Parts: sequence; C-alpha cells; structure tokens
Amino acid sequence: MFAALAVAAGMNAQTNTFDINTSKVGAPIPSTMYGIFFEDINYAADGGLYAELIKNRSFEFPNNYAGWIISGRVSLKDDGPFKKNPHYVRLAPSGHRDKHTMIENEGFFGIGVKANAEYRFSVWARVPDGGNAKIWIDLVENATMTDDQKIGNAGLDISGKEWKKYTVTLKAKKTLDKAHLRVWGDSKVTTDLEHVSLFPVDTYKGHENGMRKDLAESLEQLKPGVFRFPGGCIVEGTDLATRYQWKNSVGPVENRPLNENRWHYTFTHRYFPDYFQSYGLGFYEYFLLSEEIGAEPLPVLNVGMSCQFQNGIEHEDEVHVPLDQLQPYIDDCIDLIDFANGDPATNQWAKLRADMGHPEPFNLKYLGVGNEQWDYEGNPAFTKRLKIFVDAIRKVHPEIKLIGTTGPNSEGKEFDMLQPRMKEIGCDLYDEHFYRNEEWFLKSGNRYDNYDRSKKAPKVFAGEYACHGKGKKWNHFNAALMEAAFMTDLERNADIVEMATYAPLFAHVEGWQWRPDAIWYDNLRKFNSCSYYVQQLYSLNKGTNVLSLTMNGKPVAGNDGQNGLFASAVLDKNTNEVVIKVINTGDKLQPVTLNLRGMKKGTYSAQLISLHSDDLTAENTLDNPTKIVPQTSSLSVTAPAQEISVPARTFYIYRIKK
Ligand code: AHR
Repeated sequence: MFAALAVAAGMNAQTNTFDINTSKVGAPIPSTMYGIFFEDINYAADGGLYAELIKNRSFEFPNNYAGWIISGRVSLKDDGPFKKNPHYVRLAPSGHRDKHTMIENEGFFGIGVKANAEYRFSVWARVPDGGNAKIWIDLVENATMTDDQKIGNAGLDISGKEWKKYTVTLKAKKTLDKAHLRVWGDSKVTTDLEHVSLFPVDTYKGHENGMRKDLAESLEQLKPGVFRFPGGCIVEGTDLATRYQWKNSVGPVENRPLNENRWHYTFTHRYFPDYFQSYGLGFYEYFLLSEEIGAEPLPVLNVGMSCQFQNGIEHEDEVHVPLDQLQPYIDDCIDLIDFANGDPATNQWAKLRADMGHPEPFNLKYLGVGNEQWDYEGNPAFTKRLKIFVDAIRKVHPEIKLIGTTGPNSEGKEFDMLQPRMKEIGCDLYDEHFYRNEEWFLKSGNRYDNYDRSKKAPKVFAGEYACHGKGKKWNHFNAALMEAAFMTDLERNADIVEMATYAPLFAHVEGWQWRPDAIWYDNLRKFNSCSYYVQQLYSLNKGTNVLSLTMNGKPVAGNDGQNGLFASAVLDKNTNEVVIKVINTGDKLQPVTLNLRGMKKGTYSAQLISLHSDDLTAENTLDNPTKIVPQTSSLSVTAPAQEISVPARTFYIYRIKK
C-alpha cells in the first residue's frame, strides 16, 4: 500500500538519502528517557486520577459545605478526631416524622458510576449521646422521570460514643456520569459524621485509597521511564504557606490537611472556585504508583521560593525564604530521601513509609530542587538558594542525582544566565521547559547537537514541553507531529538528554485550565490524545543505543534542503532490531532511500508503525477516542538499501529485524 502511495503522489519529489550506520553502536538510551509529568492541574488528582468520588469529604473547604447540599438539622463542628482536619457534621433528628436530615454530595462534576460496579462507602462516625443509630446511603439520579431516584442503596449501623470507621459496599444499578450521594441521618438519634468517602472497589491494582483504573492504565501503557511529581507551579505555591508540602501528604488520609490549589484561580477566564488539594493522592501514593507502572520516581521540592510569576523580588525576604532560614526546606529534601529509601529501624520517615505498607525502599535516585525559578540581574535569587540546597543535600546523600532548572524559557536572558550556573553549582541534571508554537518546534531539531558535553556538564531533563499551536491551542494532530519531529533531537542526543516529560498529563473535560494535555476524561470515559500516542511510540520504540543517521553527512532535523524531514535511529539490542523514526512535516510525500550500512545484503522482515491524519486540526475525542491512533503493518526491507515513501504529515517507525 505504501509503495503504491509513493508512485501515486511522489512523482516530482527528489530522493532523500539517509545513511544509517547499523554496526557502530552509539550512546545508550537512558531507561528514563521518555517519562511522564504529573501535576494537579485540570482536576488531575482530586476529580481525576485519584479515585475518590466525594468532593470536600472532610468538610475543610473554606466554605465547609462546598460540594454538599444539606437538608434538615445539620450543623458543623470543629472538634473532630483528626487534628489537621477538625471539622465534621452533626446530623440531628428532624423533630418531625415527615422531615428528614440529610447531606448530599455532588462529587466532581457529578459522580460517575457504572451499572453493576461496586462502590466502597466509608465514614468516620459516632453517636455522641451513646447508643445505636442507623444511617442510610443512597446513590441517586437527581433528574429522573422514574419513580425512585435511588440507583444504589445501603444501610449502616453506628454505635457508641467513640469515633470509628464504618464501611459498606453499594452496587450501582445504572451507569450514570452525574450521580449524587445522599447520607440520611437516623430519624431518632443524633449522629456525627467525618471523612465521608466513596471509591470504586475496582481501582488500579485494587488499592483502597487507589487510582482510577482506566487513567492509571493509560500511564502504565506508556511504559514511562520516569514519573515526575507533584508539579509544576503547585510545588512553589502562590505564597510559601500554600506550596506543596509533602509531609502533609503522607500518613492516614483522614489527617492530611487540605491545601489550596493555585489552578483554582490562576486564570479568571477559566475559574474553578471549588478546586482544592485533599492530598489523598500524596507522596506515598506517588512512589507506589511509580513502582507499579515501572517508572523511576522523580519528586520535585520547593527551593525556598514562592512562584516567581506571582511574586517578584521586591520584598524578597517576605515572599521567599531568607537564606539563613532555609534549613526546614533542606530538611524536607533530606527527610524525603529517607522516607523513600531509609531504614525503618533507624529513621522516623522510613518508619512511616513502612507503617503505610511499604517496608522495602522505593529506590529513589533523583530529586528536583525548584520548579520554574530564575535569577535577576544583580540578584541570583534562585541560584544562591539552590547552591545551599545542593551542598547540604550532597553532604548527606551524595548518591542522589540533583536536578536544577533553567527556568520557564527555552532560551533568552534568564536561560543564558542559568545554564552555566547549573554546571558551576554541580547539578547532575537541569530541567528545561518549552511550551512553544509550531515554528519553534520546526526550528529546534538541532537544539541539543551542540550542547556542552564536557565531563562536568549536567545532563538535560526536558521536564515540561508541548507544542502550543499558534491560534490552535488544543490536542490536534499537527501539534503531535511537531513533537514527534522534535523528539528525534532528544533521541539523537541521548548521550546528554537523560529524560524528557511531555506536560501536562491529565485534564478533565469539564475542569481544565490548561491545554493541550496528554490524556482527557470525563467521569466515565477517557481518550488518549495524538500527543499521548507520540509519547507512547517513542517510549515503546526507544531501543537501547543510538545509531548514527545522516543525510549528506548531517543530522536529519528539518534543516534547509531536508524537505521538512526529521529522523533518528536506534538499535534495540534486546530484540536485535534497527528502529528508524522518520517524520515528514511537509505537505508533500517524500521518497527516502534508507542506506542500511553494516547490514548484509538480503531481505529482512520488518514492521511499519504509522501515525497519520489527513486533517492537521483533527483530534481524538471522548466520542471518537481512536480517530487517530498508530497503525502497524508487516513488510520486508532489503539491505544494503531500501526505498521508502513517507506521506506528507506522517510519523513513521520502521522496526527492522537484523
Ligand atoms: O504545566 C503547567 C505549568 O506550566 C506548570 O505548572 C509550570 O511548571 C509551567 O509553567
């Protein structure tokens, strides 16, 4: 089929000759090369990956009843059993046979339930006056024409004055994306309720405090090499008090204090006043998930600075941490390494990890210090702090690779100031970010070819990137194609690029603040974007070693005379395959001769994987999730040379069995 296409459409095109040296094995491809970046933006955690279905389960939002509709005699109390989440509700008898006391939760854009699936309801409760009480739990369809709104129901007996955890399982009779949960108080006895929770029983790997299965499976299917968490700007906080504090995110979920989420108010044109961080998905869960999806965990911690976009340098010591007061922040880094790797017998943080269910270490190897930070002329606000962190952490944990940053820009004044500083300070890697348009991606195919390769030069972590189409800022095919083209540069330069993570990862279709994103969902469905498939194609076809691929002696990187082509090649020692990636970003089919140098004359079996759309603005959607997905076919390839044709706007991967 592909040969026929070539004949039909390729009449006038000049042939492009790629020389692939299959016998000279180049730099190893780091196992961390293609990874994922997680931030609680776009309802990625609460309302997304974290499978909790109840919003404001601990009644700690600034409006304590946010997410709840209350009815009858409900009152708010603040002397509950969990010190960091002191509020709870008291449900008193209504005082009349025909009146009722009830609380109803709306979930995150509703509660998604599936017919015949089971849901675990749990609550901390007591009968303050002693004795026994019965509460009823209903899953309801509010807007129904049927006689009964209930689509699931269970009763729960509560007894005694002591707070206890009660659990009951409900089965949904119907699939519904916007159900509500009602909890009815006893008609005769006052009952206190705290931490009202509802999870699907079927979470990823079955954990009770677990992840939404379909979303976690999308992550697993990426086979990511590294998993960066928890962000992003939320690491910094609009102010220091609201920065992400990992110590608040571990231990019993009931006692993890609520934090605000800056994405609630960052954009007034997409405002989400009920967006908070419950920390139910906390650092223990992040480490566990990393382990379960086979990725190296990569936490990023605060460097003693609040978000620099939101706070300049005026009043530096008020908005950022004064240099002589950094120790608690440095301790957070050191204690985190101990939490992940330490011995529970000798370290309190390691003991907490063991108590939470993971006595074995998580084998943390990397730590990011600071997110998007930068220096000012005459005031190295960031790097003066970073150096203190790096020196202090190294003394205690020289085995951990420390990651600095070159700030939010891929080039320019701040980038130029920061890049050499990362080397001087002795970072092992630095984090580069680039949300850029098509033009930038097309021009950046040689970005890493001339980077500093000296022994002490830090490696690159392309920690946040995505093509933000000019005037077309969504997950269309063209953005993914630009990313695929650019990624040949990461691959070719695998000797200095150690890891790269597309960003952001997740977005709820009703709750997003930022796009494009890799994976989209509503309460029941999901789709992987074209950009997701580009990431997956690189990850599944990353091979083990770089092979040289050139055209007229130069890398194929969309340069003049290269007809919009980008290409790279790797060897997969595990399967003994040569893997060639070719991206045609132009609007004409391109004939290419693959000179397979070092391969004996003969015919070889191969696979061709293709990602293509005739419509550059097309995208996958919830209703059509597989509109643009990779297609695989088998073929044979001849050595020493094979003619191929790469259709316009296409990403091709050849896997040739050596
Ligand atoms: O990915 C969204 C945001 O982009 C991140 O929070 C931040 O690091 C960057 O500016």
